[in-house]
Amino acid sequence: MDDMRNEDRAALAARDHLFSPSEEMEKLGQAARPVLTHGEGIHVYTDTGHRLIDGPAGMWCTQIGYGSPDIAKAISDQALRLSYNSPWYTTNSPAAELAGRIAEMTPGDLNRVFFTTGGSTAVDTALRFTEYYNNVLGRPAKKKIIARYDGYHGSTALTAACTGRTGNWPNFDIAGDRVSFLSSPNPRLAQGRSAAAFLDFLVGEFEERIAQLGSGTVAAFLAEPVLASGGVIIPPKGYHARIKAICEQHDILYISDEVVTAFGRCGEWFASESVFGVVPDMITFAKGVTSGYVPLGGVAISESVLARVSGGNARGGWFNNGYTYTGHPVACAAALANIAVIERDGILPHTRAMIPRFDAGLAALRDLPLVADVRAVGLIGAVEIMTGPPHAEATDLDKKIALRVDEIAWDLGLIVRPIANLCVISPPLIATAAEIDRICAILREAILRTGKEVADGHIG
Ligand SMILES: Cc1ncc(COP(=O)(O)O)c(C=O)c1O
Repeated sequence: MDDMRNEDRAALAARDHLFSPSEEMEKLGQAARPVLTHGEGIHVYTDTGHRLIDGPAGMWCTQIGYGSPDIAKAISDQALRLSYNSPWYTTNSPAAELAGRIAEMTPGDLNRVFFTTGGSTAVDTALRFTEYYNNVLGRPAKKKIIARYDGYHGSTALTAACTGRTGNWPNFDIAGDRVSFLSSPNPRLAQGRSAAAFLDFLVGEFEERIAQLGSGTVAAFLAEPVLASGGVIIPPKGYHARIKAICEQHDILYISDEVVTAFGRCGEWFASESVFGVVPDMITFAKGVTSGYVPLGGVAISESVLARVSGGNARGGWFNNGYTYTGHPVACAAALANIAVIERDGILPHTRAMIPRFDAGLAALRDLPLVADVRAVGLIGAVEIMTGPPHAEATDLDKKIALRVDEIAWDLGLIVRPIANLCVISPPLIATAAEIDRICAILREAILRTGKEVADGHIG
């Protein structure tokens, strides 16, 4: 036992004691996930020394890549200076400065920022604010949240209840009449309609739903600009602005969940307005705000929305929502350093320059027989593996084949995120042109080799 490497100990302890997200319970305790030991730039290394390109940027978050001395120093300096303060009766300068920076980056009058511990708590806070807001406004019936199938918003009870990835639902008590789901803007559901007709259908469905529920009961529309974990689903152009106009007619708050799309993933600090043409009432963020170095999230809220329930309109209320680690000084210092690196190294213009290359590189995979669709926006892309006709329902075989593509890509030195029959890639924003080309080349090779295995009858 004493001769055992630390990595081997880690693998054993992981197998025996860790309980991980999305655990396949039948296999609990039988095997551990690969143990990563270190990272450098866009690469991570396993305990067996395998070097891999971090294709999904961890979980859509490692924007500036691994091993940044700037972030490490900011974290260390802040931990030595002030490692904690209670946000209930004090604050700290990194949190205050970061709120100011984020207020400059967000569109419209979204100038006040509430910090949380990650994405789920950011969305949860936005939803709890919505509840508080309508109670203070004397509209206790205006509580329903309209979300979309295929959307993902987190793992608190409320955000999981707003998550329309139905595969996540079994054995959890998700159902309730608080949340109402609209169709996913998945092109599969367009069923031959033009993009304009599909958009009309989606917008019409929203209007009908409000009429059906009664606008006096609908509090919020909650949406990711791009449904990321739900399969990189990109709504038709104009969708966001048309939905927002309807929200305004009915005094419904529009919450844009930018946990994935913010902090450069689409080439801008925030994507709602600059990429998707909508100025929401609230924007949630997390992940890329610290490039994944430490946990942090938050929600930016419109001043005009806040004005309705604060100052002379507060009606004696207290927004009693918060976390021990709200505005944590070390996390906020890491975020400020992350923003400084993104600015100093020109990472936003670099990302904007890489987006067309990434788009074209993935689109070139369309010629492969197993590839039914390729979708990309910003540095978020998905290759859809399908043995049947495009836009059909994915079969178990399609999912098995996609998983095999990911396994082969792993062996070839690229991590690909498996989501059902999709191979999802969203690299760190610092990926160079040569690295983007390499990612696309490995993916092509992995799909070709998988195609041969399918042809040879090895997968079925
Ligand atoms: C759009 C979106 N919202 C919320 C979350 C939840 O964030 P977290 O896992 O940091 O709680 C995620 C996580 O992937 C996400 O993709």
